[in-house]
Amino acid sequence: KSVTAFAPATCANVAVGFDILGFSFDGVGDTVTLKRRLDNKIIIENIDSPEIIPLNPEKNTASVVIKKLCEDLNIQTGFSISIRKGIALGSGMGGSAASAVAALVACNEFLLNPLSLQELSFYALFGEEAACGQKHADNIVPCLFGGMTLIQSSDPIHIVELPVPNLNCILIHPHLKIETKHARGVLKNELPLKDYVKQSANTSSFIAALYQGNYDLLKKSSQDFLIEPQRAHLVPGFYEVKNAALNSGAIMSSFSGSGPTLFALADTQIDAKQIAENMQKEFLKLEIKSEYWIAKM
Ligand code: HSE
Repeated sequence: KSVTAFAPATCANVAVGFDILGFSFDGVGDTVTLKRRLDNKIIIENIDSPEIIPLNPEKNTASVVIKKLCEDLNIQTGFSISIRKGIALGSGMGGSAASAVAALVACNEFLLNPLSLQELSFYALFGEEAACGQKHADNIVPCLFGGMTLIQSSDPIHIVELPVPNLNCILIHPHLKIETKHARGVLKNELPLKDYVKQSANTSSFIAALYQGNYDLLKKSSQDFLIEPQRAHLVPGFYEVKNAALNSGAIMSSFSGSGPTLFALADTQIDAKQIAENMQKEFLKLEIKSEYWIAKM
């Protein structure tokens, strides 16, 4: 028997919600197939990816999470894991989370679904820890639940599913690589109180805007005072690309997760392809190639 599961890309932080907000992005993602083994081993059999992904089962997020789940549930079976990576590693599109989530969903299906999505999130966090050293939940939770999510607490995990705005999302991935570990390493541990006040005002009104379906308020609340300014230097042309999106009619734009991918949200009446192409042009001025995806949120 074999089971295959797909898990989508995710856009974490959503500008104003570092480590707490995220949404799923359909249309691009990772696919994991599990086959049962009789020798109780968990091995990576095959990875279909243009890049080098860890084959070592102690390092690959898909095998790490399955191993933990099987140990905890005392499952006496092994699995061969095949991974088709749709999401580039180090892209900021939740690639490590998607492999872990697809593996867990397939494993849960194998076991006739004993675990809830909430319980699967607990296991997926071990994949994030293996990938970047920290159990941030803002990719795995929207990846598992879909839509827009808020992590009220990650230990114990408590999730709030938020209203999804009726907007298009553009993800633009410049062909650069940023390890999440590095992008977290550049962040200061202490921040000025006045920035905290401005940011918490924006985060709160951003969430209010989602409940109200108020895109003017969403736009007003979308400036990140804490994280974006500390990471902008990691991507050449970051502000030019972001401004190209805003000047082409996007409601907001920022890093997707820890970058280098940027996201932009736009009204469905606005030409999303034009926004993406204008963003792409800014990268091209710096001789940086990029690819983009557009999907309804
Ligand atoms: N919240 C995490 C970060 C997301 O920005 O470091 C990583 O995809």
